[in-house]
Amino acid sequence: MILINKPWIGEDEKREIINALDDNALTSAAKNGGKRVRELESLLQDYLNVKNVVAINSGTSALLAALLAADVRTGDEVLLPSFTFVATANSVIAAGAKPIFVDVNKHDYTIDVSDLKAKITKKTRAIVPVHLYGHPSDMDEIAEVAKRQSISIIEDACQSLGSTYHNKQTGTFGIMGCFSFYASKVLTSGEGGAVVTNDDSIAEKLKMVRNHGMVEGYDTRILGLNLRLPELSAAIAKTQMVRLREMLELRRRNAEMLTRLISDVANDNRIILPRESQSKRFNWYLYTIAFTKDNLRDNIQKKMALNDKIGATVYYDPPVHRTPYYERIMGSGTSSQRSSVMGLPNTDWASKHVLSLPIHPLVTPEGLERVANSLKGAI
Ligand SMILES: Cc1ncc(COP(=O)(O)O)c(C=O)c1O
Repeated sequence: MILINKPWIGEDEKREIINALDDNALTSAAKNGGKRVRELESLLQDYLNVKNVVAINSGTSALLAALLAADVRTGDEVLLPSFTFVATANSVIAAGAKPIFVDVNKHDYTIDVSDLKAKITKKTRAIVPVHLYGHPSDMDEIAEVAKRQSISIIEDACQSLGSTYHNKQTGTFGIMGCFSFYASKVLTSGEGGAVVTNDDSIAEKLKMVRNHGMVEGYDTRILGLNLRLPELSAAIAKTQMVRLREMLELRRRNAEMLTRLISDVANDNRIILPRESQSKRFNWYLYTIAFTKDNLRDNIQKKMALNDKIGATVYYDPPVHRTPYYERIMGSGTSSQRSSVMGLPNTDWASKHVLSLPIHPLVTPEGLERVANSLKGAI
């Protein structure tokens, strides 16, 4: 099976795990974290060109920590797309706030700025743009909207480590940016994450939130939880950081080759290919096509899996607002919540038409030919 994503664990990662075990360093409850957590933070800081990085134990925890550090609380509304992994919305609920869903655009599936403007109310406290598939959101336009209303931007960059917007790393535009190192991501520690910020006082707060609100010991000053990244996970992630550029290069090479191989079916308008622009450069976390015709996608996905063992995958169907829990809570919510789930036509369209194809670094050129031939055969 050619899987949609696969962690690339080498000898260096294994050696670093053994070193951590030899040091008896499983985790650290120190305010600044253990040695390997600090090394990982410093490598990310250099790579992203950001002042502060606070490693966290997952992308979900990173989003929750960011919302808590931004003082988002009960009664606040947070604007976010429904076309995302459910963690984005769940962390808003866990922080006590109300998620308000915004539609996405149909060309790169990131937040639609005109719908965003329409959904701002007096209660809007934060916007969480998601750089879905590694496609950067329209950060200039979002920043313009947020600036006028003094709303915090917390980027969900869980899928976009290495993607850039006007040559600047995604995750570094808002007051905070959140990353995930889950096993499928471009850089992994199995489970893991980070929040990045250029604001020193927010970074201090994040370190407290990650560690039960403590500073010097049992002196809880604000609400926090145990969101610490274990040293063993940091050992893997910091070793992966050394190979990050190479891994992203291989993704790019594979994306470009796949585009060449399937451009004929795109030229006759049967599928829409993912396209970078000058200002938006992708990390190619996912290579996501869309079928122009209705009711084709699911059969094609099944055929590719059964006939050719290709793990083409749908991200996301259903979108968050159509999951049972969100249907239940949004249906009985405030009028702004109800209106935020009724008119999401592009989200509904995308959830029924997109399909992501494998291009991770371990897919060989022969593997890509298999993917392309399988797709064309199924069409
Ligand atoms: C867009 C998005 N947000 C949030 C998350 C949550 O990250 P994690 O799985 O590390 O908790 C993920 C990844 O799984 C994601 O893809």
